[in-house]
Amino acid sequence: MFEHIEAFPGDPILSLNESFQADPRTDKVNLSIGIYFDDAGRLPVMRAVAQAEADLLADLGPRPYLPMAGNAAYRDAVQALVFGEQCEARKAGRIATLQTLGGSGALRVGADFLRRAFPQAQVWISDPSWENHRVIFERAGFAVHTYPYYDEATGGLRFEAMLAALRELPRGSIVLLHACCHNPTGVDLDQDQWRKVIALLKANGLLPFVDMAYQGFGAGLEADAFAVRELAAQEVPCLVANSFSKNFSLYGERCGGLSVVCRDADEAGRVLGQLTGTVRANYSNPPTHGARVVARVLTSPALREQWEEELRAMCGRIAAMRGLIHDRLRAHVSGEALSRYVTQRGMFTYTGLTAGQVDQLRDQHGVYLLRSGRMCVAGLNERNVGAVAQAIGSVLARPAA
Ligand code: LMR
Repeated sequence: MFEHIEAFPGDPILSLNESFQADPRTDKVNLSIGIYFDDAGRLPVMRAVAQAEADLLADLGPRPYLPMAGNAAYRDAVQALVFGEQCEARKAGRIATLQTLGGSGALRVGADFLRRAFPQAQVWISDPSWENHRVIFERAGFAVHTYPYYDEATGGLRFEAMLAALRELPRGSIVLLHACCHNPTGVDLDQDQWRKVIALLKANGLLPFVDMAYQGFGAGLEADAFAVRELAAQEVPCLVANSFSKNFSLYGERCGGLSVVCRDADEAGRVLGQLTGTVRANYSNPPTHGARVVARVLTSPALREQWEEELRAMCGRIAAMRGLIHDRLRAHVSGEALSRYVTQRGMFTYTGLTAGQVDQLRDQHGVYLLRSGRMCVAGLNERNVGAVAQAIGSVLARPAA
């Protein structure tokens, strides 16, 4: 029956992470997957999250099915965090927000919804983008193309080329954008560039789908949401996927949200209805635990303050690690190839290392990066940064076999 089934080639991020787990070397370093580790190399449990869980444990109660759209308090808290409490679209009830299985779940539910609503549309993602963006939209049935984004020569943004490409897209095209901490390059648009892109999207009738998986890891919770809030303020219909995997360190709880900004409350009601239909056809309704934790933290003033403080500390540690790797690499790398470690932001730096060099790093030194050259700087710490810099220096000094 299944003789014709081909072997799964593996996932460039998750399969690599599994290889890392299976690697017996004790001095191995995981800079592949987008996960924040603390300075001791551990996955942190945030104190605000632990406190919320302790509170909830005292009052667990029965576990009925959640509504298809998810936990109502969570959905409201997600919308407030993403769009801001004062957002006019939110006040007018014209944003449909759904609890999803992480950011990936939000992208997939959104992609399925769009495929039914706009069967002729095609999708454009940045070059490069998170590997799974293409997979999700292609599996939903879309043709996926790229628009220029990253400039390897400068380690920065090809902004004019990006604008020129977007200008040529047919009306109704779906444009996938990263709100902040671009994955994999760590290169973001500034606010002026966002205004220009948003004006173009609006004038040309393009449909933005914004992925915000790293809110709080760039310039702060508010500033990282600039593009999303500006889209809503400019009344541009759009979809926004957000995730609490990273900023709550709740990876396995699969906590995310999908929001769709609509023209009015009636339209938002119909869109929400279709999204819930998509959920029913996939997994019926989302799980209870993570959403209760996130809602509690976001809506209890003391826990919220503590969470924000912990998140700022995580960002501070990432910035310190960027500085450290930059200084340790000084002996091996120069110019822009070095400065990008401190200019790119969020969890990732696009190192410019080739797939062959990445393979050498992994095989000979136990240092894991993605084969695209993406390094998760949030996996660096005071103890491993020296060895990582030395390993990079040694592969740069030796041509690949
Ligand atoms: C990553 O980019 O490494 C993370 O978002 C994890 C994932 O699911 O790929």
